[in-house]
Formats: sequence, structure tokens, C-alpha cells
Amino acid sequence: MIKSSLALSEYEVFSDFAGNFNLSGKAVLEIGGCLPYEYIKGCNPKVWVAVDPRNEDKTLNEQYKSVKGFAQLIPAPNNTYDYIFSCNAFHHISQFEQAVKEFFRVLKPNGVVYSNFGPIWSAPDGSHLENVNYNGKVYNFWENRIVPDWYHLIYNCREIFDILSSRLEYGLAKTIAEYIYLSSWLNRMEYEDYSRILKKSPFKIEFFEGTTELGYEVTLPDYDNPYEWKVKEWKERVGDRLNDYRLRDLKICLRKV
Ligand SMILES: C[S@@+](CC[C@H](N)C(=O)[O-])C[C@H]1O[C@@H](n2cnc3c(N)ncnc32)[C@H](O)[C@@H]1O
Repeated sequence: MIKSSLALSEYEVFSDFAGNFNLSGKAVLEIGGCLPYEYIKGCNPKVWVAVDPRNEDKTLNEQYKSVKGFAQLIPAPNNTYDYIFSCNAFHHISQFEQAVKEFFRVLKPNGVVYSNFGPIWSAPDGSHLENVNYNGKVYNFWENRIVPDWYHLIYNCREIFDILSSRLEYGLAKTIAEYIYLSSWLNRMEYEDYSRILKKSPFKIEFFEGTTELGYEVTLPDYDNPYEWKVKEWKERVGDRLNDYRLRDLKICLRKV
């Protein structure tokens, strides 16, 4: 049975997928990644094709191929795959609506999209610092959380910089503020955007839930915040939708009917 969960590692996400669907003899397309062959061979799919802009074009054997490509322009004919699998990638796909159209096109009738990913942009830690390098130190949201809940949604670049630089050195505060506002690593879609696009799509939504779990410890610097009042103002504006903004990782299961 599919249940919402954090997309902690590709092994865990793949195990959940393989535990819910029988992949034996099936054609599977992986979007945004390249799972190790060792993970998939025991499930004996007919083919596994992994598409990612960072992949090399490489055929490992008759069963497994990696392809350099994009979800918005999948290099495959119509009705090719039984399953689409994706781990921690959907929140990185720009023009997501176009990608969903491609998923529908390349799936066979009754085919399934399974994806677990996050944190999404609207989440408390949706600024999603990942591999941010400053002076030889790498900052990841799950290890060195620097940005308090929803500050990337509440404050502009200057305000974030002012807050961060009250405790962090100038260069680090600038690097983080620039990353939040300029990085194209995330698609910046909010929970409502996913919901709208999936409901509008021709897919039957079999599962679409998010989790508020965190999965790591948070110790934030004790910032001076001259703009504290903006938090209250933002929460009032968001109102009842605050629960949607608490959702971090989403799990999606769609069927082509
Ligand atoms: C955080 S990584 C996840 C990789 C792997 N699935 C994992 O769980 O470790 C996100 C991946 O999505 C890929 N990606 C970004 N935009 C994409 C697109 N338009 N189509 C396919 N993959 C994309 C990135 O290149 C990156 O490899």
C-alpha cells in the first residue's frame, strides 16, 4: 500500500516503488537520476531507461540504459513504458506541466507514474540549500540549516541578506541570499501548483499526498530580524492554506486510463 513518506534516499524510494508494483518483464523509465543497476536487477524489468540531463548516453546491458535527456522532451515513442519512476527530481523540473504531458505520451495505457520528492519550494525549508559552497565548506539544508521556516517566501533578497548577516559573515550571507533568489536548481513550484497541474492532466490521480516530517535536526543561528512583523503578515495572508505550506515531500502515483 502506498503511504506518504520522506524521499530520504533513492534506495528507500526505489524499495517502496518496487514493493508496490511488480516490475518483472516491464519497461520502466526513470526520470531525473540513474539508479545503480544492482538495485533494479533483482526486480527483473524488461528494460530500465534512466533519463537525466546529467546522464551519459550509455548502454550497460540489454536491460539497462542511461540517456542524457529531459523530462520535457523524452526521447521515446508514444506508448513505450509501463512505469515511470522518479526520486527527488520532480521539484527540479522546470515547465513541469510539459513534463506531465510527456509522461502521459510515453506511458502505455494503464501505465503508472510513481514519484517521491522534496522539499518543494513552498515547504518551510523549501529554499532547499544543496551543495552551496562557500570558502570550501558545503552547505546543505539537511545538515547546516541556515534559513528559518519560509523566510525564502516571506522576505526579498535584501531582507534575507540583512537577517543572515546579523550572525553570519558577509560573504556567506551574500552567497546564501543569492542562491535562494537566483539558483535555477529548483522549479519553485508550490504545493498548489502541483495540485492544479495534476488535476488538470489526463491522468487518474491514484495517490497525491505530502508529509510534514522533517527527518533532520534544526539548530538555527539566533538572528536579529528587523522585519519580524512580516512573518505574521505572511501567515495572515496564507490563512487556512498554511497546512499546505507545511508539506515538504510529496508522493505521487498517476495512472494513464
Ligand atoms: C536531487 S537530484 C536526484 C537524483 C537521484 N534521483 C537521487 O535521488 O539521488 C535531481 C535530479 O533531477 C535532474 N533533473 C533536473 N531537471 C530535469 C529535467 N528537466 N528532466 C529530467 N531530470 C532533471 C537533475 O539533473 C538531477 O540529477
